[in-house]
Amino acid sequence: MREEYDIKNLNPRRNPLNGLRRLSKTAARVLEILEKNRGESVSGARIAEELGVSRNSVWKAVKELEAEGCQISAVTNKGYTLLGGDIVTAEAIGRYLATSCFGQKIEYLPTVTSTNDRAKELAAAGAEEGTLVVADTQSAGRGRMARSFYSPGRHGVYISLVLRPKLTLERSLMITACAAVAVARAIDKTCGKSELSQIKWVNDVYLGDKKVCGILTEAAIDCENGGLQYAVLGIGVNVSETEFPPEIRDKATSVLLGGGERVSRSRLIAEIMNELEREYEGIENGGFLEEYRRRSNILGREVTVLRGEESELATAIALDDNCRLVVRTADGNEKTLNSGEVSIRLDENTAN
Ligand code: BTN
Repeated sequence: MREEYDIKNLNPRRNPLNGLRRLSKTAARVLEILEKNRGESVSGARIAEELGVSRNSVWKAVKELEAEGCQISAVTNKGYTLLGGDIVTAEAIGRYLATSCFGQKIEYLPTVTSTNDRAKELAAAGAEEGTLVVADTQSAGRGRMARSFYSPGRHGVYISLVLRPKLTLERSLMITACAAVAVARAIDKTCGKSELSQIKWVNDVYLGDKKVCGILTEAAIDCENGGLQYAVLGIGVNVSETEFPPEIRDKATSVLLGGGERVSRSRLIAEIMNELEREYEGIENGGFLEEYRRRSNILGREVTVLRGEESELATAIALDDNCRLVVRTADGNEKTLNSGEVSIRLDENTAN
């Protein structure tokens, strides 16, 4: 387990742990046992024995977990059952984090307008590559084309990573695409399934015919050399929602609904960081593109290309080495699309 969430140079006045919950050691281990047996009761005596602590310490740890938002039932002669609640903790992220840089510095905010806003502030103030902003909820989460991103507390992953890429602006789409592959893999891994998640060009991850994750990369240009001064990679995943507001009900899903598994948000955050760091290393070589194409849910399919008020039917035929989409329109012409200008609709029922 890592102890070094180095927070000192980020925002020491806000919170000495940068807000990231650090449970007492016993509470963290009790949570681990209850999570493994979610929905089933585990006796206080069994937990106490497994951890080598008193039953009273277990009781205190349960109270601590409840104060942090876990719903735990305690029944005499049966024990404790974790009913709900998935809290993001330093211990849980640290247990799964296998990176050397990404996510090694974390700022956790219970609520924020947008994690991308906060990450941009940190990046502009000099935060180093790999600094991660995590929030439980966003009051103004946003997506591409000025759309809002539904960000309810206790259910989703809302994270933004500070990057200092050596890519030109034209190739910056690679960051979003690389992240889509990392998120798809991380979801598959935490659900214990392979090739479950698909990617809808350019920034959405799908489970079945519904969106489970959106990615928004924002960048600042270095005027001296025209390269990227920094990029902020924002990722939002619906994890345990079982209901969505009417306007997105037909097109949104969660890992729980679409993948059939209740996964820990802390673990998912760590796995996304692990996969992303691995792929990001050689990002300019596009090593992830083969998997991106394989997971694509639009290649070879009829799509509607939306540009402002205009729409055009086309077939998605290829993804070039800069992650631009090549389509063939009804008149037989080929067009290469840049994600900044257009969005793609699979058909009327999966409009997004
Ligand atoms: C999209 O669907 O077009 C992209 C959605 C991106 C949402 C994430 S959540 C974390 C980060 N903060 C934001 O405000 N947006 C991104």
